[in-house]
Amino acid sequence: MKAMMLKSFGGPEVFELHDVAKPVPGTGQVLVRVHASSINPLDYQVRRGDYSDLVPLPAVTGHDVSGVVEEVGPGVTAFAPGDEVWYTPQIFAGPGSYAEYHVADQAIVGKKPASLSHLEAASLSLVGGTAWEALTVRAALKVGESILIHGGAGGVGHVAIQLAKAIGARVFTTVREANVEFARSMGADVVIDYEKQDYVDAINRETDGRGVDVVFDTIGGNTLSRSPDVLAQLGRVVSIVDIAQPQNLIQAWGKNASYHFVFTRQNRGKLDELSTLVERGQLRPHVGAVYSLADLALAHARLETPNNGIQGKVAITVAP
Ligand SMILES: NC(=O)c1ccc[n+]([C@@H]2O[C@H](COP(=O)([O-])OP(=O)(O)OC[C@H]3O[C@@H](n4cnc5c(N)ncnc54)[C@H](OP(=O)(O)O)[C@@H]3O)[C@@H](O)[C@H]2O)c1
Repeated sequence: MKAMMLKSFGGPEVFELHDVAKPVPGTGQVLVRVHASSINPLDYQVRRGDYSDLVPLPAVTGHDVSGVVEEVGPGVTAFAPGDEVWYTPQIFAGPGSYAEYHVADQAIVGKKPASLSHLEAASLSLVGGTAWEALTVRAALKVGESILIHGGAGGVGHVAIQLAKAIGARVFTTVREANVEFARSMGADVVIDYEKQDYVDAINRETDGRGVDVVFDTIGGNTLSRSPDVLAQLGRVVSIVDIAQPQNLIQAWGKNASYHFVFTRQNRGKLDELSTLVERGQLRPHVGAVYSLADLALAHARLETPNNGIQGKVAITVAP
């Protein structure tokens, strides 16, 4: 089978397309023909070598799969050949999805939402699972509460807006000017142009100084240390970004705030919940660009560039 391989860490040019052996499903595993994948920042972080201690070379990265079960290993009861499936491969625990076939444990695989194409499903599994964990499990966002979602035009952000609206929250989000209408079309109630407005001022003005119940950070930088300035009493902050610099959180104490850090985990249950929202028409990933597996380097280079004009996700056609 064809697989896009990393034999060294570096820029997008380090990708090499190779013929490698098709994997064989073991006990409890399914072999999936990968129709589509997508790119997450994690993929270019892995490619650059940010996690070189966790990723032995040669490596295949890629953290979203939508495809069709071709074969099942011993003990598989949930799937049969021909089933359309979607999932996020276990991170740092084996080959990723930039390959024509992928093997996964049945426990992390879900039945693909019927109304999504493979490109759409592969654009939702990782970002949807992350946003779902952040908003429902960690922040426990409730009907009638308010949330600030940083980066509302991004892969995670545009899905988080839709999830928060499905939960029944009032949604504030930050985007650049070119993405204001897109964020509104995802359902955001108040869209803040982060280049022209200070979001702390904008939120305090919009909420008469009360602040929001939840801050969802997909950006990093000083978002954690500034969160108490926009948080209501008993507010929750959820970050999915690794932030190396120290953060002064003394004001969080006065707000009775709680902070949560999410590193996305895989399980079928959350895929099924996302699927329910998709089939109800409350959630749909936006595919902002599509590249072929052969053009993966171009796709990586584009997503890595700030102000790249991409709204939502970059999907990859693997083995149509
Ligand atoms: N912990 C986890 O499990 C997990 C899971 C998924 C993602 N992540 C991390 O979460 C981050 C976001 O992922 P993603 O998939 O959403 O990435 P993405 O698709 O590249 O989206 C990032 C978005 O943020 C926007 N942006 C940049 N600077 C901003 C600012 N100051 N204020 C508001 N928006 C800004 C970007 O657009 P412009 O540059 O055009 O403004 C882009 O729309 C990445 O660091 C990723 O590694 C972590």
